[in-house]
Amino acid sequence: MAIERTLSIIKPDATRRSLTGKINARFEEAGLRFVAQKRIRLTKEQAEQFYSVHAERSFFGELVAFMISGPVVVQVLEGENAVARNREIMGATNPANAAPGTIRADFAESVEANSVHGSDSAENAAIEIAYFFAGTELVG
Ligand code: PPS
Repeated sequence: MAIERTLSIIKPDATRRSLTGKINARFEEAGLRFVAQKRIRLTKEQAEQFYSVHAERSFFGELVAFMISGPVVVQVLEGENAVARNREIMGATNPANAAPGTIRADFAESVEANSVHGSDSAENAAIEIAYFFAGTELVG
């Protein structure tokens, strides 16, 4: 089993409802450890750049507006197969399709306000982690 790191974001709908602790408990119970974590407010430019892969999609403007609508918690999770494990715990993007017991099934409000983001590959995880954190901030 490979020890990996992945980038997770607790989104504004979840910070607004004070769900950070409950969501973090899900990660820790699943064997993922926190290597870094900070609560920040994304600028429009940061959100646009972070989600630039979706720039051509019809919902891009709404996605960016939502991600800057309140504080987010950006965090680096570490553990065995952390990228896949985190996506398993999060559940499907649209909470209507998320398996029972997943974070999105239990907490998400909609496909937009879906409580959490997680990197979709180890390659993107490395890029996304470097986007928010300096190497010295990652404490394993
Ligand atoms: S995925 O995992 O990339 O296949 O998911 P995808 O459906 O492509 O969605 C990518 C991100 O866009 C968000 N999203 C939306 N935001 C606003 N409105 C609509 N309709 C919408 N559909 C998808 C979705 O929450 C994904 O955000 P992240 O942060 O990547 O999970």
